[in-house]
Amino acid sequence: MADYVPGFGNHVATEAVPGALPIGQNSPQKVPFGLYAEQLSGTAFTAPRAENKRSWLYRIRPAANHGAFHRYVGNERVTAGSFADPCTPNRLRWNALELPSGKVDFVDSLVTIAGNGDPGAGVGIGIHLFATTASMERRVLFSADGELLIVPYLGRMRIETELGVIEIEPEQIAVVPRGVRFRVILPDGHASGYVCENYGALLRLPDLGPIGSNGLANDRDFETPVAWYEDIDEKFELIQKFQGHFWSTELDHSPLDVVAWHGNLAPYRYDLRRFNAINTVSYDHPDPSIFTVLTSPSDRAGTANVDFVIFPPRWLVAEHTFRPPWFHRNVMGEFMGLINGVYDAKLGGFAPGGISLHNTMNGHGPDQATYEKAIAADLAPHKYENTMAFMFESRSVIRPTAWALEAPSCQHDYDHVWSGFEKAVLPK
Ligand SMILES: [Fe+2]
Repeated sequence: MADYVPGFGNHVATEAVPGALPIGQNSPQKVPFGLYAEQLSGTAFTAPRAENKRSWLYRIRPAANHGAFHRYVGNERVTAGSFADPCTPNRLRWNALELPSGKVDFVDSLVTIAGNGDPGAGVGIGIHLFATTASMERRVLFSADGELLIVPYLGRMRIETELGVIEIEPEQIAVVPRGVRFRVILPDGHASGYVCENYGALLRLPDLGPIGSNGLANDRDFETPVAWYEDIDEKFELIQKFQGHFWSTELDHSPLDVVAWHGNLAPYRYDLRRFNAINTVSYDHPDPSIFTVLTSPSDRAGTANVDFVIFPPRWLVAEHTFRPPWFHRNVMGEFMGLINGVYDAKLGGFAPGGISLHNTMNGHGPDQATYEKAIAADLAPHKYENTMAFMFESRSVIRPTAWALEAPSCQHDYDHVWSGFEKAVLPK
């Protein structure tokens, strides 16, 4: 069992061995037990105090203790730029990625399906899928490009990081900060899901404005792991994602050797079932931003580099209102996935693990069957259950990769869901 402290982004001081954590000084001349002091910065040194994220790690060997990295050739499907050109404006949908028949670990199962921006410029996102059938053995991964928001829909994951162990299952998420080394263990022998790699400002809770001090995702429901380490003098492969590509080097020890740490930069997890959904109690829809779990702001006010939004179980009570998501066109790019159940705007074609992509100014909304059902519905209070959909919503167009457009899972008849609508009849 992994141990956690409540909250995230708060200052934590934790030690896996009593006496390992220095008191009163970040980098004393002699660290207890001969551990090495190392600062891991998640923001620029001079970021404002309220946004400044860093932790001090006390480890068995310095993280710098490695040889040169070489291009890793085991997985060429991860990228930060191989987007289809020209970028299609078309609405797109994919079926779930199938589990491979052989043993494939998290590193080799990752495939980039879409993205935008540039990790070198600290702007944008990469969106990857995984369908893995083997635990990572004797190898450890980190991304130098961005923090990783991991959203499984199938199978449990045990994420062993430098700063502690996180266990998640579908309807829970984990965030691993940029640079933090980790391995993925599969308690069920398989796991599938989505990853949003955030190159921009760190994910944080959204401001609540007139909602007040409660609601949406509550800080106390996030969990940060306590210190955990392993002391293994054997060969390990260390893989990093740097500027879109994997690079590899070999170590003679496990890099997961942080015995104690303190600071406010750490991995964390959150259970989406604890989300406090806020919605209308009179008529009409609030915008879906009302379901934002985490946001990465951009330099344009109110316009996110990426928002992580969920559509959880909730009561529908609106009067005089078409209750499913309405028809809309949006400035933002919308990448949508399904973790569990059914999404209320689509009656078919969108199963758990599926994806839809609706980009800037291209109209979408309920399919024809959903529309007909909704306008005939009895508008009594109704509990919408057994569902958990999500969206990665970005200020910039989310560009599919060439792999994504050529994948057999890409549905080529998606536009058809918006056909068959009856023409409105105006008075003569
Ligand atoms: Fe939308």
